[in-house]
Amino acid sequence: MRFAVMASGRGSNFQALIDARARGELPGAELVQLIVNKRDAQAIGRAEAAGIPWEFIDSDVMARAEFDRRALAVLRDCSTEAVVLAGFMRLLTPEFIAAFRHRILNIHPALLPLFPGAHAHRDALAAGASESGCSAHFVDDGIDTGPVILQQAIPVLPDDTEESLAARILPHEHRLLPEVVRLLAAGRLKVEGTTVWILPEK
Ligand code: GAR
Repeated sequence: MRFAVMASGRGSNFQALIDARARGELPGAELVQLIVNKRDAQAIGRAEAAGIPWEFIDSDVMARAEFDRRALAVLRDCSTEAVVLAGFMRLLTPEFIAAFRHRILNIHPALLPLFPGAHAHRDALAAGASESGCSAHFVDDGIDTGPVILQQAIPVLPDDTEESLAARILPHEHRLLPEVVRLLAAGRLKVEGTTVWILPEK
């Protein structure tokens, strides 16, 4: 399975995929392309260090539909079969999502369907949640509404800040994201409505 990553910033989840690949933990999955929508995304340096081609498409200077058309063209050029959103802080158009139906993965730092959107940690703390965590899920047309594949819960501590909660959840994201890529590449994810079944290893 040839797959691409889309990222907007730090790229630590992208790095987790690079590292998992280097450890041989992504059999049958080939990371062929990075697309970033911000010029200063740290993910670019990670791609260069790992020898992965990257492309910058400036989301600040074009409409959403134009951005997605350009991204789709890049993905088609490198024959990508799946797309992994790794801290990609931007909505995709229905046209983009339809082009990769049940082939777009996202990692989100909360226990979906709780706390979707760009401020998951802040929202979890504001709601007084006693636990939070992360979710790896398929992307659909909504904001973090697609079928959930894997989740990891952790307790929220009484003196947690957005930063401390994010820092405790992040290592779990780094474990879950390569795991769902591995399962997708192995053909072990079956989507039925809003449920994702993880099929046994053959
Ligand atoms: C991660 O915590 C990811 O779950 C989150 O942004 C961070 C990106 O970190 N994504 C979202 O909030 C999407 N709604 P990274 O750039 O170091 O991977």
